[in-house]
Amino acid sequence: MEREKVLVPEADLSRQREFQQRVRAMFAAREAHPRACVDTFGCQQNVADGQKLMGMLEQMGFAFTREPREADLVILNTCAVREHAEQRVFGNLGILTHTKRENPEQIVALCGCMAQEERVSKRVRESYRHVDLVFGPHALWRFPELLWQVYETKKRVFAVADEDGTIAEGIPAVREDGVKAWVSVMYGCNNFCSYCIVPYVRGRERSREPAAVLAEVRQLVEAGYRDITLLGQNVNSYGNDLDLDYDFADLLADIDRIPGEYLIRFMSSHPKDATKKLFDTMARCSHVARQLHLPFQSGSDRILREMNRRYTRAQYRALVDYARGVMPGLVLTSDVIIGFPGETEAEAMETVSLVEEIGFDALFTFIYSPRPGTKAAALPDPVPREEKQKWFDRLLEVQNAQSAALHAGYVGKTLRVLVDGASDDPAYPLSSRTEGNRLVRLTGSEGLIGRFIDARITGSNTWALYGEPEE
Ligand code: SAM
Ligand code: SF4
Ligand code: F3S
Repeated sequence: MEREKVLVPEADLSRQREFQQRVRAMFAAREAHPRACVDTFGCQQNVADGQKLMGMLEQMGFAFTREPREADLVILNTCAVREHAEQRVFGNLGILTHTKRENPEQIVALCGCMAQEERVSKRVRESYRHVDLVFGPHALWRFPELLWQVYETKKRVFAVADEDGTIAEGIPAVREDGVKAWVSVMYGCNNFCSYCIVPYVRGRERSREPAAVLAEVRQLVEAGYRDITLLGQNVNSYGNDLDLDYDFADLLADIDRIPGEYLIRFMSSHPKDATKKLFDTMARCSHVARQLHLPFQSGSDRILREMNRRYTRAQYRALVDYARGVMPGLVLTSDVIIGFPGETEAEAMETVSLVEEIGFDALFTFIYSPRPGTKAAALPDPVPREEKQKWFDRLLEVQNAQSAALHAGYVGKTLRVLVDGASDDPAYPLSSRTEGNRLVRLTGSEGLIGRFIDARITGSNTWALYGEPEE
């Protein structure tokens, strides 16, 4: 992709700011105080997009509510990665017919990855006539113009054209959390894992300029953010499209030079592109958390080939060994899919045995969900759901025992944690995270939120640690 075509020109961004002002003026003329409800599903990339939507809405004069019934504008920012997620969204869209009946002026918008699927936009066009605005991730930066068009024409607006994608810099974000922040370093995906819809809805890989990422992280650190996660579908291909001889490890090293008390994390990291240089850089950089999310998906070489993952079980193990060698105590997490089309029980058990061998701190586990349009969705898939569920339960059993044992090993130790918020458990009113991103429920007062403190670990279970601030 040519770089000039990737970066949205400043003149186009400035036009969008004009639309923001028009919407704002329209509400001001009516002496209205509009409220928006933005409901985001899916991954952190989508959360980051939701924060940009809120940033643009704030410029348009909107306040925010979590209650669709109170909202003048309801936005469902959706995820297409599994069928279940899509069904939930259609359920929620159905519910909005009632809120709209109570408040006919209410605008309903659908955006995010589902909106970019032709099958979905067609269904919404035909069967969900109360939806006023549909736009995919590619059109996010044009949201002010699209919303203005809805108000101005009173007609339904669809902006779902397929494209390779662009980068729009400078869109403000509303971050509800004052401690943790998400920063996209790149967008899109070129990997086309055979089960995955993301490359079809998020376009081709495109990296932000290093200077833009560095400026954003610096600003966040200066504003008091302490835990910053760099996002990309595969951060290890950061820079491939930049022609700068500059890769993700170089970016980490440059970010690390920003002064301040903060941690940098990143996700996701594709094993096929993870390098020794990346792990050596992580080990050297004091702000980079000793934590790695390295999705392996399957422990069977045949299934990995079918998934188009382009590494083997042995290569994955070698990467983990190297990373653990240079970063003792590394906290390691991963994503796994059980029940890929044609997977046998023996192959699923290869996944379980890899989990046993590696000893992950935590896993994100999924049962394969066919995504129309992907290569895997066309493969024969003879194994019944109940059978896959049994393999899945076996995997969970192994991982839960593993997580519980690793967590128990922390009891009695003192760990440095970042207190990131309040919890609703009166016995442990604070929540915090270790450098490895393990959840620690803490005693103590809210004054500690936003601070790194030493915590003595007093208890644990499969999902969390419990502790108290050390005097
Ligand atoms: N780009 C990231 C990577 O490659 O690690 C993953 C992004 S994807 C949004 C998050 C996870 O969802 C994947 O790692 C995979 O385990 C899971 N996933 C993706 N497509 C799926 C499907 N069709 N069925 C079940 N799980 C799926
Ligand atoms: Fe999907 Fe694979 Fe891209 Fe991850 S790397 S988003 S799993 S296609
Ligand atoms: Fe993320 Fe779901 Fe889209 S996982 S990239 S929001 S399909």
